[in-house]
Amino acid sequence: MSLVISHLARRFGATPVLRGIDLEVRQGELVALLGPSGSGKTTLLRIIAGLDWPDAGGLSFDGADWLAKSAAERRIGFVFQHYALFPHMSVRDNIAFGLTVLPRAQRPGKAQIAATVDGLLRFLQIDGLADRYPAELSGGQRQRVALGRAMATGPRVLLLDEPFGALDAQVRRDLRRWLRGVHDSAGTTTIFVTHDQEEAFELADRVVVMNGGVIEQIGRPDEIYDHPATPFVARFLGLTVELPVTMRAGRAQAAGLDLTALPRRALPDGPATLFLRPADIEVLPDTAAPFRVTEAASTGALLRIVAESGTGCRIEAELPRRDARGLSVGQPVGLRIVAGQIFPGGGASAAAPAEPSRTLKEALS
Ligand SMILES: Nc1ncnc2c1ncn2[C@@H]1O[C@H](COP(=O)(O)OP(=O)(O)OP(=O)(O)O)[C@@H](O)[C@H]1O
Ligand SMILES: [Mg+2]
Repeated sequence: MSLVISHLARRFGATPVLRGIDLEVRQGELVALLGPSGSGKTTLLRIIAGLDWPDAGGLSFDGADWLAKSAAERRIGFVFQHYALFPHMSVRDNIAFGLTVLPRAQRPGKAQIAATVDGLLRFLQIDGLADRYPAELSGGQRQRVALGRAMATGPRVLLLDEPFGALDAQVRRDLRRWLRGVHDSAGTTTIFVTHDQEEAFELADRVVVMNGGVIEQIGRPDEIYDHPATPFVARFLGLTVELPVTMRAGRAQAAGLDLTALPRRALPDGPATLFLRPADIEVLPDTAAPFRVTEAASTGALLRIVAESGTGCRIEAELPRRDARGLSVGQPVGLRIVAGQIFPGGGASAAAPAEPSRTLKEALS
């Protein structure tokens, strides 16, 4: 029983917002859609929910064509990005709502609805809140009620659009773990939208990185973190240092940099761009090295160092302050790069939007 999205496209007027989305979500899986604002995440979710229709492409669940079905027939639970509970209804009535508006033939009896709601209140650990009104709840509690409301009709697929967006970091972290537990015990298939990388990585079985209406990469969180497939994903995941290098027999070289810790790469000889995180640079005092420390600023735990070479190369590194004893402005230093991702081409071509480099088949294998 999987959800299969194929070559899905949607434009608003002349603007393409989804440009050929291919994605398969397996039953019981929790997938996070991660991407910057405007990348098409909500649009994709609305199409899956049956609140909007694509201009081209397919959408099926368990082999059935969902584009031929109404939103109600799809049996989906949806928590919207800017979700509002019904303010004049108690928590209990909010959660029961979806059941009370089912067509008469499918609607359970009053006693059964009450039992379902009681079960959900316990399951979601909000049974003490049943008779309160939304205005009497904290933001985190409201989101639990919203999830209860989405789950009441026994949806096969749960769609959550930034459900924790407005909450503070600690509450988000708690709700995230709670949601993972709820998902696992309910056995639903869940698609979760966020633009928070940490949230996506902690919650999801697989992360789908979107940019400008295309999928840039699909993979397990660690896989994406360690091996971003495109320059966009690399930058989005914090590999903000970009260095021109030259490939020779699979090895990256650049004047004054020790790149020997990087694994050999199957790339053609010639110009390439190395993307790395500021924390992936070791800064070592070395009187013979061409770099000099030009700035050093402490953030408390970390020391942020800027090193520049005589040829105009400027690199920002970040190291634990306790490892940085003895580094000071003006000092000559050697730079050793311990991890990074290399993409073919010099600055300009590496910066151009790359084609998604992994096919759906590769990503699922
Ligand atoms: N009904 C609409 N009419 C015209 N343009 C729209 C409509 N809905 C969305 N768009 C445009 O489509 C693009 C994608 O929007 P979408 O809401 O899917 O982005 P998103 O990834 O959810 O962003 P965010 O993280 O800000 O919620 C945006 O440029 C948006 O302005
Ligand atoms: Mg959105």
